[in-house]
Formats: sequence, C-alpha cells, structure tokens
Amino acid sequence: MKTIRTKEALSALSREWHAAGETVALVPTMGYLHEGHLSLVRLARKKASRVVVSVFVNPTQFGPNEDFEKYPRDEEHDFALLRAEGADAVFAPAPSEMYAADATVSVVESSLSKTMCGAFRPIHFSGVLTVVLKLFNASRCDVAVFGEKDAQQLSVIRRMVRDLDVPVEIVGAPLVREPDGLARSSRNVYLSAAERQRALSLHEGLDAAEAAWRAGDDSAAHAIATVRNALEGKADKVDYVVAVDPVSLAPVERLVPGTLLAVAAHFGSTRLIDNHFLRGSGRNA
Ligand code: PAJ
Repeated sequence: MKTIRTKEALSALSREWHAAGETVALVPTMGYLHEGHLSLVRLARKKASRVVVSVFVNPTQFGPNEDFEKYPRDEEHDFALLRAEGADAVFAPAPSEMYAADATVSVVESSLSKTMCGAFRPIHFSGVLTVVLKLFNASRCDVAVFGEKDAQQLSVIRRMVRDLDVPVEIVGAPLVREPDGLARSSRNVYLSAAERQRALSLHEGLDAAEAAWRAGDDSAAHAIATVRNALEGKADKVDYVVAVDPVSLAPVERLVPGTLLAVAAHFGSTRLIDNHFLRGSGRNA
C-alpha cells in the first residue's frame, strides 16, 4: 500500500493507473477507522480495480465549538487496517496541503443541507462538499463510496454531483452496527459506559418505529413519536427526529419503502446520529 501526502502525487498515481486501463475508487474518511469504514473499502474493491482511502480530519466541516481538536486520530493503526484490507493507497495530507491559506472558494448547497444536521451545524455541509470535491479532483476517481450512516451527507453529495456534473459515480453502503446495535462511529470512544448504554435507545427507537410500520402503521407522526418515546429519559438532548424522502429530505406524512427515519441526539457531551431506511417486506413494504 502506498502512503501519499500530496495532491500532486495522488493525481500522478491515478493518471498512471488510468493509462494502464484501470479504474479508481475513492473512500473518503476522517480516520480512526472501524468496521463501518472497512465495509466501505470492501465495497470499493468490487467497484473498481484500484482503491484509494483518504484519511483527513477536515477542519472546514467543524464548527467553532465542535470537536476538531479532540477528534480521535491514530494514523499508524489506520494504515495497518487499510494494508490488511488490501487498499492500494492511502492519502493522508496535512491541512496546509489540502487548503491554500487564502482559499476563498467553497461549495454551498442551499436546500438539503439546511435541514436536519444542517440546522444545528450551519457550516458543516459546505465544509464536507468542498473537501469531497477537492478529494475527487485530486484522486481523479471514477467511483466514490459513502456510508448510509451519514444519510444526509450522502444525499447532499449526490445533489452536488448532479448539479455540478461531477463525473464520479456515488455508491452508498449500508450502516454497520456494533453487536449491541449501536451504530459504529469514531465518536463512540467519547461515551462513558453509562452514556453508551443510554445511546442504545437510538436504535431501539428506530427498530420499534420500523416494526410498527411493518405491522401496518404508515403514519410518520407515529413513527417520530415512537423514536422520541424511546429517547425519553435516555438522551440528554434530542436535536431532531424526522421521517423524510431520501432524495429531497422533505418531511413525509406517510411512510413508504425508502423513507429515511433519522435522529440526532446528545448523550453527555457526545452528539450521535442514527437512521433507518425503511426497506424489507412488511404490509407496507
Ligand atoms: P467519517 O465520519 O470518517 O466517515 C467516513 C465514511 O464512513 C462516511 O461515508 C461515513 O458515512 C462512513 N461510515 C462511518 N460510520 C459508518 C457505519 N457505522 N456504517 C457505514 N458507514 C459508516 O463522513 C466523513 O468522515 C467526512 O464527512 C468525509 C466524507 C470524509 C469528509 O470529510
């Protein structure tokens, strides 16, 4: 596995591969890798002949009072996991390599990115889109893989690719959970044992709402109330619980296959997100 630190070296490698008739898949990450990230690498393997994983804690997507400084980092461990997974290259640039000190252009999405997490993290998605587009350009990738764990991020990226004619195929990968049901996240390390236990209410609420839908209740209001009930007394603060169309992120009244049920809540000082895309075979599926 090659370790690459500059955009120029990454572009050169990608050009070399393409000249040899190969295709390139990119898996963008912020590192501190877990099984969720590694599932993306495995899916990327199936989509292209070469796989590049970026490991970059992107400063522009963190708000002033967020956890950029304390975001967990462990480059050596990340590289060992990626080597074992058979990644062809890891791109791990310094912030000064990614961004010109006087950069003045960024990508702004003006609808989908304003709701859900965007309502609580106003600059977040602009930072994400800007770095993702820069990573696409540097890697010259044909395909990029993103997790459904960050469902709004996936929708916003798909919208950027559509609206700016970005020549990259976007592939979504299923959410990976811990054995007890907690969605895998680099931020789970922040949780105390008691907070972690309370955080299981996220997936328990989503499970209960999905079960009710399968049993025939297609009311979005009921599903939202079910999730809120599960969080009652467990979450310290609930940012949102929504049932939305996965493409427009507009709220729905009736749940249908594909509807995104999504939640963000705080446990102690840690903010977690979780979601279900309604699928499968129930009376409503
Ligand atoms: P990060 O949180 O490191 O996540 C990198 C990728 O892994 C994202 O596509 C995310 O959806 C996916 N992922 C994380 N946890 C997952 C899980 N439990 N199951 C499935 N996929 C999971 O998302 C980012 O970084 C950044 O915003 C980034 C896109 C890299 C831009 O900086």
